[in-house]
Amino acid sequence: MSYLLGIDVGTTSTRALLIDEQGAVIGSHASEYPLYTPRPHWAEQDPRDWWDATVASVRAALGEAGVSGDAVIGVGLSGQMHGSVFLDEADQVIRPALLWCDQRTAKQCASITEAVGADDVVSETLNPVLTGFTAPKIIWLRDEEPDNYARVRRILLPKDYVRLRLTGEYATEVSDASGTSLLNVPKRRWSELILDRLELPIEWLPQVYESPEVSGAIAADVAALTGLAEGTPVVGGGGDQAAGAIGNGIVRSGVVSVTTGTSGVVFAHLDEPAVDETLRTHTFCHAVPGKWHVMGVMLSAGGSLHWMRDTLCADEIELARNMGVDAYELMTAQAGRAPVGSEGLVFLPYLTGERTPYPNPNARGVFFGLSLRHGKPHMLRAVLEGVAYGLRDSFEIIEAMGVEISEVRASGGGARSSLWRQIQSDVTGHPHSIINVDEGPAYGVALLAAVGAGIYGSVEEACDATIRTVDTPQVSQANHRLYTGYHRLYQQLYQQLEDSFDAAAGLVAAADD
Ligand code: XUL
Repeated sequence: MSYLLGIDVGTTSTRALLIDEQGAVIGSHASEYPLYTPRPHWAEQDPRDWWDATVASVRAALGEAGVSGDAVIGVGLSGQMHGSVFLDEADQVIRPALLWCDQRTAKQCASITEAVGADDVVSETLNPVLTGFTAPKIIWLRDEEPDNYARVRRILLPKDYVRLRLTGEYATEVSDASGTSLLNVPKRRWSELILDRLELPIEWLPQVYESPEVSGAIAADVAALTGLAEGTPVVGGGGDQAAGAIGNGIVRSGVVSVTTGTSGVVFAHLDEPAVDETLRTHTFCHAVPGKWHVMGVMLSAGGSLHWMRDTLCADEIELARNMGVDAYELMTAQAGRAPVGSEGLVFLPYLTGERTPYPNPNARGVFFGLSLRHGKPHMLRAVLEGVAYGLRDSFEIIEAMGVEISEVRASGGGARSSLWRQIQSDVTGHPHSIINVDEGPAYGVALLAAVGAGIYGSVEEACDATIRTVDTPQVSQANHRLYTGYHRLYQQLYQQLEDSFDAAAGLVAAADD
């Protein structure tokens, strides 16, 4: 029997997942690392932590599965997108990587848009330049840390740094490269126009592959470290969203996924590139060769519930520990005791700013409509509902682009709560089904590795052979009507508060100086 390995370099941990040729999961292991926030708006990690976690996770996954590295015939890489790894002449990390959720680069987004020209930014990248993306991080280094900038010889995305350590190759693939603001997304290659106008050398960037293409092979010293065999092919892989979508079988028009992890993402396959006219969603290359995708990205979906847990649910954490269950189970059970609409309590989930539908780093979380009747169950339900309203924003934008939605597949931590999945289904009006495997991006890139190794003829064939829907809820039309009214109120609240968010950000900055 032969096996495939998927490695996902996430924000909290790196996960290694082993599957067999039929797609059955036979082993997995995750190793965690810290995220540093040395200043407000900053989010950084040490790339060397990703590498150490990769080595530990691969060894542990092989050990758990009782599989020899020689039986692994392909490796796929996935990872948090947009992060910047700056390497010097000797491939040493120059400073901690700036992450996807880092919000320090508003000034650089404006200066890039000015230098390239707003129309050319969109025609080349199909997106605006956003604070989380990679190019503004590079320009921030040039503006703010010129000594470090002078040492840069290579710039890599998180998973591609791990690839360099695994294979010695400087390589990326189209889906992750799409989030750099440096790729010509329609043509699937680096944008010479943008690099030229920003005066960035193309030699700093890795070679771009399609996702199932082989980009290199496991090096001899790495074989000794990890237990994998020297020469095992490593495919391009994918940014975590495209890779997760492959793991959900989102490889044809009509089938859409909703992934509620820390972020909340609505993801649709596109046969041809298409763009929301006000650029509220991202249009990137898909991990299916020659295809694209559109996605709406909320920054704090599961992250909002996580925040509730850590700030207001110490009792539930304690009780859950004593009962041997997950605190989220107790929290969602409480939420189930509040009525649909939480009696007028509306939560805006913009705890870390937002991307879709409002690319606004200053937006903040809000509980609106509190009364003496409201208790913790209402607040918990309002958080679940607020995130679902945000997802509906993305559905509406994607549908207005002419993308038909015939099936919705839910995944991520949020999909595990049947209450949250029901709320999401009632809010969007589409039943959010679950599928037989919910293993996220690592599973998707293990499937890409299976394509690269020739087990399957195409990405579509790999998904058709391994992924199917297992449970589809009924949408309650009565709840959907009620939620449509609440969704309108939710949208009005942002519009009315937009200036206040900026004012609050100004006050916080003034206090910080
Ligand atoms: C996608 C995005 C996140 C990160 C971290 O645009 O920013 O999915 O990749 O998960």
